[in-house]
Amino acid sequence: MKKEDFIFTHNYDSSLEGCYRWESPSNIALVKYWGKSEDQIPKNSSISFTLKNCLTNTKLEFVKKKLKSQLFDFDIFFDGKLKLEFKPKVHVFLERIKKYCPYILEYKFTINTTNTFPHSSGIASSASGVSALALCIMSIEKSIGPSISEEFFYKKASFLARLGSGSACRSVKGSVNLWGAHKSFKTSSDLFSIDSPFKVNDVFMSYHDAVLLVDKGVKTVSSTAGHELMNDHLFGKKRFQTAQDNIEELSIILKNGNLDDFVRLVEKEALMLHGLMMTSDPSYILLKPKTLQIIEAIREFRLITKIPVCFTLDAGANVHVLFPDKNSVEVYNFIDSSLKLYCENNSYIKDCVGYGAKQL
Ligand code: DP6
Repeated sequence: MKKEDFIFTHNYDSSLEGCYRWESPSNIALVKYWGKSEDQIPKNSSISFTLKNCLTNTKLEFVKKKLKSQLFDFDIFFDGKLKLEFKPKVHVFLERIKKYCPYILEYKFTINTTNTFPHSSGIASSASGVSALALCIMSIEKSIGPSISEEFFYKKASFLARLGSGSACRSVKGSVNLWGAHKSFKTSSDLFSIDSPFKVNDVFMSYHDAVLLVDKGVKTVSSTAGHELMNDHLFGKKRFQTAQDNIEELSIILKNGNLDDFVRLVEKEALMLHGLMMTSDPSYILLKPKTLQIIEAIREFRLITKIPVCFTLDAGANVHVLFPDKNSVEVYNFIDSSLKLYCENNSYIKDCVGYGAKQL
């Protein structure tokens, strides 16, 4: 599909008013998206697990604007409180999608949003937040326009979410997502994410992700700035090719369920992401001493117990601890007796692989 295929060109009844509500999950990348070109096109493909418990719940109310104008009219509330500081990000999102959804200029919106995970926990809420909003907008499109297939609905929702925040496109549907054109998967696309194009081994469908909250502070370098530093990165070319190779390798692992290979590849990807940050110009470090202590403890525990528990990281200091369901009792005991002590207020989030967004 081309991006032009997502432009809404139909006549529509703009007098319709109403409200839609979607709940959308966060996701954790196994092979990372790090580096992008114009229009949120990723420099390499990425694969993620969709989470089940880290969710954003968004209600979008829309009424016809009193006066026609080319300016957006919206208010955004978080946990019931008006959040002026959230407006610029939403504004950028609406600006980016208006070519594809011209009807959004007809309405005044009230956005009410809440997260199931603690605010400022250091967990990125952009993936769940942006995808929930994109899905609400697609519900409007579905109600005012000609009938669209379920497949198109989710493809366009993912397409719109990508324009808001790249990783958000992996949050609309499915348990394991692939985003970014890859030669081995002909349905893969840079424009939107797809549900895994291969049968994922059952062991991963019940995989756990315990999110250890090492640092709840605001990141010193945003993801957007980090992506930009990949443009002239010393290792950029090599990284983008390596990521494509890692996608190939991970797809085999996700099919055959080889957990030793999974551990090796996922940890290598996480450390490569931070290695890229450390070798950017200017260089920066988002890992904290406690992140490294947790990583060492996980590796030691794995060596002693032979349990295939591993870690991954996103662009921050928090650690995602990944493990199969059959080892969950031992791993949660280990987290409670030892890893938890490295977390701010001893807090962590128990999550696992989920199924994608849900309309409420
Ligand atoms: C390290 O999706 O937050 O989490 O497109 O600029 O909004 P923008 O970036 P974002 O980047 C996420 C980067 C990552 C890796 C990943 O999720 O694949």
